[in-house]
Amino acid sequence: MKYHSITELLRDNQAWATQQQQADPNYFHNLSMGQTPPYLYIGCSDSRLPLTNFTKTCPGEIFVHRNIANQVCLTDINFLSVLEYAIAHLHVQHIIVCGHYYCGGIQAALEGTATGVVDSWVNPIRELYLQKQEEIDQLPDRQAKLFRLAELNVEAQVKNLYQTSIMRQVLREERAPAVHGWVLDLHSGLIKDLDVSTESWQLHPSCPAPGSLLPVA
Ligand code: CO
Repeated sequence: MKYHSITELLRDNQAWATQQQQADPNYFHNLSMGQTPPYLYIGCSDSRLPLTNFTKTCPGEIFVHRNIANQVCLTDINFLSVLEYAIAHLHVQHIIVCGHYYCGGIQAALEGTATGVVDSWVNPIRELYLQKQEEIDQLPDRQAKLFRLAELNVEAQVKNLYQTSIMRQVLREERAPAVHGWVLDLHSGLIKDLDVSTESWQLHPSCPAPGSLLPVA
């Protein structure tokens, strides 16, 4: 692949901005007025999968959080603040947890190929593999195992999403966004909807709020 130089990035930016402006003189004015994206996308940092390109969506449509292997980490203040802002302030209607095949993070978890902090970061996926080892190990080849772990990871991260206090809160208030689990196949460019069933993970609406279980003395 031929990569663009920094000079080319800046030059192409100018060309693109001019083109947008010509097509719609209000384009950048409208962008500067604020955002009301209907989607929150939680994806992998991998450079090959900007969801906007794969779905032909525009600036202003998708609020984004990306990290290695698209994880929903319940102690990650970066992720939690993105999630809270998307739900409480932007009122997104859909949350998309999108994994992908050919994911280096999944490979690192399954094969121990990462070092340093990345190895620690993907450890929850290694734990997931150990939980699902019986299912994964019987698959015919390495690629099938990696693909399946990528899918199971999406399912696990959707489950984690329902453990966050902001999601539990909006579920109780019956205004929770719909959650979707997807995998993007880099080999075909196509998105596969995993049809992740979320109903069994949702709290009953009558569940007490976190911290309200004990009377305050
Ligand atoms: Co990845």
